[in-house]
Amino acid sequence: MAAPNRIMHIRPILESDRPGWLRLRQALWPDSNAAVHQAEMDEIAQDNAQAVFVAQDASGRLCGFIEVALRPWAEGCETRPVGYIEGWYVEAGLRRQRVGAGLVDVAEAWTRQQGCREMGSDCLLDNQVSFQAHLALGYQEVERVIQFRKSLQV
Ligand SMILES: CC(C)(COP(=O)(O)OP(=O)(O)OC[C@H]1O[C@@H](n2cnc3c(N)ncnc32)[C@H](O)[C@@H]1OP(=O)(O)O)[C@@H](O)C(=O)NCCC(=O)NCCS
Repeated sequence: MAAPNRIMHIRPILESDRPGWLRLRQALWPDSNAAVHQAEMDEIAQDNAQAVFVAQDASGRLCGFIEVALRPWAEGCETRPVGYIEGWYVEAGLRRQRVGAGLVDVAEAWTRQQGCREMGSDCLLDNQVSFQAHLALGYQEVERVIQFRKSLQV
């Protein structure tokens, strides 16, 4: 795997990164409002089974992040628990410079440190960029799913 772009610094998230992390989360998941993001970020920050890494540019501005969690199991994985890529984002103007690959590298290293031997991840069926990036980084497609919901009467 080629080295990440040298002007980028990839490191664990700090408390002071909250505004930048929120901005990047809102770019990745625009359907959630800020309050939902803040609640999820609080939960992640307090959970030892989750970790967040960020990419910052030469000016110190955050331009990418990855959220990784330990899950008890994941589709297609043969060991338990596994590391799981919960969120992965690089700002549009900085893509194809190996920043995403660098973020996945640190997420995998963190997962190895937790004693796990496999990673799981997912992407939407129409997200060809994410699909190709996963394949390029050694991830194999194991399953395609249709998800359902139903409101329950109370
Ligand atoms: C997916 C994403 C994080 C990848 O970040 P990135 O910094 O561009 O990725 P990298 O430059 O490290 O790419 C690693 C490899 O993946 C593949 N890849 C990445 N983008 C690709 C694209 N648009 N088309 C084809 N292959 C691609 C390439 O093989 C690439 O290596 P190469 O450029 O040396 O050939 C970024 O595209 C992104 O933020 N997309 C929008 C959010 C998203 O979809 N997140 C994933 C949700 S599941």
